[in-house]
Order: sequence, then structure tokens, then C-alpha cells
Amino acid sequence: MLLVEKRDKAEIARVAARLIASAVRRKPTITLGLATGGTMVNVYRELVKIAREESLDFSQVTTFNLDEYLGLPASHPQSFASFMRANLFSHLNFDPKKIHIPDGTIRGNYDQYCASYEAAIQSVGGIDLQLLGIGRNGHIGFNEPMSSFGSMTRLKVLTSDTVQDNKNSFAPGEEIPCCAITMGIGTILKSKKIVLVATGASKASAIAKSIEGSITSAVSASALQLHPDVTFLVDQAAAAELTQREYYSRVLEMTALLTPERLS
Ligand code: PGA
Repeated sequence: MLLVEKRDKAEIARVAARLIASAVRRKPTITLGLATGGTMVNVYRELVKIAREESLDFSQVTTFNLDEYLGLPASHPQSFASFMRANLFSHLNFDPKKIHIPDGTIRGNYDQYCASYEAAIQSVGGIDLQLLGIGRNGHIGFNEPMSSFGSMTRLKVLTSDTVQDNKNSFAPGEEIPCCAITMGIGTILKSKKIVLVATGASKASAIAKSIEGSITSAVSASALQLHPDVTFLVDQAAAAELTQREYYSRVLEMTALLTPERLS
């Protein structure tokens, strides 16, 4: 596990975007696992900036998004499909045929649909780099607390906390989806490399529990302790409840000296 701590969310967004850009440059046919949420708005803004400045080619990149609200068509302004178009896909030369986001409009046969999403990921050789945010309750994707660590893409009921957290992006009075289709924790753990981005004091407790707490399904992100290549990118506020910050910073210094490829 590597932990990169920076002063604020602007610096963290630059580090995250640089990491993704470097990965795409190294492997133009890379498969990226992508996330949505307020944290990712800044990350994608920086990525678009870097990609334009450096004429980075995304035409061969394949993407799989973590999740989508059940009941929202891709055209709905609050769908994650709309979020991805607005914040990333419409700004760079992605090939629409290589973009995958769970379909929020499916009805019935959920298991079959979710198995086909998993099969699509496997058919391109799996996810090379999975980007994650984290919920205040420690969720990754929409894997709410008590999700099985073996879970694969599936239908998931959202907690009322998550529904409340996401309420702001919906118009007053608009019905907020109670369920989602999400990659499972098992799906995420199969990715070759994982980068989790967290900023702000509201994430400090979830970050400390995920990194230094017990491995428990009560904190979905604690499952990442089982993965051999995870990098946490956190600002000072999100790192505030960690007890080993000085050690993580020394690990980072030595990594830069001995195995710098892990940081690019
Ligand atoms: P946020 O969402 O970036 O909007 O805080 C993260 C998440 O819930 O995964």
C-alpha cells in the first residue's frame, strides 16, 4: 500500500490525473475502471488539461464505470453516464464503442445483465487501472457496508446515508434512486492496480478505518488491504485520523528512490 498525502484537493487532483495520464501514455490500449462523484470532477478536469497539453490519445482506451443508478437512463442529467460525458468523455477522443457504463434502465434478469458486464471486463483482459472514490461510510463503487468481499457486479440497495449524500445533485422534490448496479468488491480486487482518491475532513474516518482498521465487511474499502497494488491519494484533511503518516511518507521517499515506476 502506498499513501500519497498532499496539502489540498487541487494538488491531489493533479497527482491523480498525472498518474492516469502516465498510464495511458505507457499503454495506449489500457483498460481503465472509472469512478464518479464530486472528488472525480477535479481529477477529470486536470486529466483533460494534461491530455490536451500533451496531445494524449484516448482512442484505444477501454473504460468500465463502477456503477449507475437503477432507473436512470443514460440521458438523465443525474445519471453517471451524463456525469462521465460532461466531465470527461466529451472533452477527449474516447471511442464511444470502448466506453462501458452499467445500464440503469434494465428491468428483470439483473443477474444475467450483471454477468454480461463482468464478462465484458474479462473479454478485454481485465481492468489495468481502477480509479476509486470513497463514501463517508467506506463504500467503494456502491458497495455499501456489509457487501461481500467476493461480490461481483450486481444490483445493490443504497443506504439512506448514501441517498442523503447524493441528494444535492437532484432537483428538489425529485425522486432519488434507492438502488444501483455496481461492480462488486470482488470485481474491484481483480484489477491490476487500484488508485483511491479522497479529499476533505468528511472522509478522514473512512480513510483511517480502511487503511489502519480491521479488515471487515462493515468498511468495504478495508478490503483493499488484501490487494497487492493500491495507492491512496489523500489531502491533509482526509489523512487527519491516520496514525502512521510519518511512516507512509518515508515509504514514499524510499519508493521514489528504489522503485519509482510504482509512482508513475
Ligand atoms: P464523492 O463520492 O467524491 O462525491 O465524495 C465518493 C463516493 O461516494 O464514492
